[in-house]
Amino acid sequence: MTLRPRRTPSPDTLALLASRRSVAAAGLQAPGPNAEETQRLLTLAARVPDHGMLTPWRFILIEGTARAEIGALLAQAYRANNPQMPEEKREKFAAIMGRLFPAPLAVVVVSRPVAGSAIPGFEQELSAGAVCMNLLTGATAMGFDGIWVTGWAATHKAALAILGVGEGERVAGIVHIGTASEAPADRPRPDVAALATRWSPPG
Ligand SMILES: Cc1cc2nc3c(=O)[nH]c(=O)nc-3n(C[C@H](O)[C@H](O)[C@H](O)COP(=O)(O)O)c2cc1C
Repeated sequence: MTLRPRRTPSPDTLALLASRRSVAAAGLQAPGPNAEETQRLLTLAARVPDHGMLTPWRFILIEGTARAEIGALLAQAYRANNPQMPEEKREKFAAIMGRLFPAPLAVVVVSRPVAGSAIPGFEQELSAGAVCMNLLTGATAMGFDGIWVTGWAATHKAALAILGVGEGERVAGIVHIGTASEAPADRPRPDVAALATRWSPPG
C-alpha cells in the first residue's frame, strides 16, 4: 500500500492565522463581500465539524437598508425593556442599538440544537461556534476584516424576536464583516506554553 504523502504546507494560511485580528464593528466600512463572495463565505463557514451531521445552525444576513431598519427596532425595544434605567443612560444604549450594524454585512449565526438527538446539545453548540470562527477566518482570507460579537441584541428575548430567532434557538454570534478603516494593533496573546501540559499517567 502506498501512503499518501503529507500535503504541501500553506504558508499563506499560516500567516493569516498568525496575524488575524478582530476589528470593532464601528471601524468596518465598505467594501464588504458582494453577493457571490457572501455565498462563497457561507459555504466556507458551513464546512465545519458537525457530530451526527445535524446542521445544528443557520444564518440570518443583515445588509443594506435592513441595517438601519433593524437598528431602529432594536433601539425601540431597548427603551421599552429598560424603563427603570436613568433616561440618559437608556438613551445612550438605545443609540448604540440603533447603530449596531455599521458594517456592510452582518451574519447572525443561529445555533439550533436538534432536541432528542443522541449528540449532546453542547457538541451541537460547539459546531455553531466553529461556524462563527470559519466565517471570520474565511472573511479574512478574502481580504475583509470582521468581529464576532454577542451582547444585548443577541440575548434579550425582545431582540431575538426582532432578529427572527425562534424558540429552541440561540445566537452563537453576530459576525460583522467589512473593511477596516485602520489596521488594528495586536492585543496580548496567551502564553500557550503555560497553558499546555503533556499527559502522564495519574498517581
Ligand atoms: C462568543 C463570543 C462573544 C463575544 N462577544 C463580544 C461582544 O459582544 N463585544 C466585544 O467587543 N467582543 C466580543 N467578543 C470578543 C471579540 O470577538 C474578539 O475576541 C476580541 O475583540 C479580540 O479580538 P481578536 O480576534 O483579535 O483576538 C466575543 C467573543 C466570543 C467568542
